[in-house]
Amino acid sequence: MPSPAGLRFRAAGPGDAHAIAALHADSWQRHYRGAFSDAFLDNDAAGYLLPLWTGRLASPKPRARTILAEIDGAVVGLAHTLLGEHPAWGSLLDNLHVAHGLKRQGAGTRLLALTGREVVNWSPSSGLYLWVLEQNSDARAFYAARGGACVERAEVPPPGGDPARLNGKPMGLRYAWRDPSKLLPG
Ligand SMILES: CC(C)(COP(=O)(O)OP(=O)(O)OC[C@H]1O[C@@H](n2cnc3c(N)ncnc32)[C@H](O)[C@@H]1OP(=O)(O)O)[C@@H](O)C(=O)NCCC(=O)NCCS
Repeated sequence: MPSPAGLRFRAAGPGDAHAIAALHADSWQRHYRGAFSDAFLDNDAAGYLLPLWTGRLASPKPRARTILAEIDGAVVGLAHTLLGEHPAWGSLLDNLHVAHGLKRQGAGTRLLALTGREVVNWSPSSGLYLWVLEQNSDARAFYAARGGACVERAEVPPPGGDPARLNGKPMGLRYAWRDPSKLLPG
């Protein structure tokens, strides 16, 4: 799939927290409505995500990897992974978001492939997994198209542990790749 002109990828640094948090909050507001409460999405999501990303990028965990997609210096995508997070499923792709105007143009596939490379470089025997909202049918179609297997269904943990940030008890699905090297371009 050809990528948009000027699309570049790099590791995130502390100076990227504002841009990442803004992209992340916009993506939540567009795609997580119904599962996350309107009050949280409309009033508090940006305020929750900015300190989260500021802390993550200021003192990154040794096994955390954050990859950015950029066009002309503007952040248009992100993938955040925790290597070796689960004894059975392996590395956790904790966040994957592409700017709304750039969806379905191959950026998500490139971010997932770069994530696969990070995982394989860290440990060739590690699997890769993630959780996706059950209601997020577009993302589920993307993961299925990229070879992910839906292996488990469970209640979504509330952001920051506050149940008021959810609408009831939304469900999430675990998607897994036993062999993330299959995500790398042939
Ligand atoms: C899910 C997401 C990361 C995918 O990234 P993307 O750049 O849009 O996806 P790509 O262009 O690389 O898609 C590759 C393939 O995945 C499948 N796919 C992607 N989006 C799809 C959709 N909405 N419906 C069906 N299939 C889809 C298709 O097979 C597509 O190939 P095609 O366009 O040639 O048919 C992105 O759309 C996004 O950020 N969504 C909002 C945030 C989100 O839901 N993140 C996931 C949280 S778990």
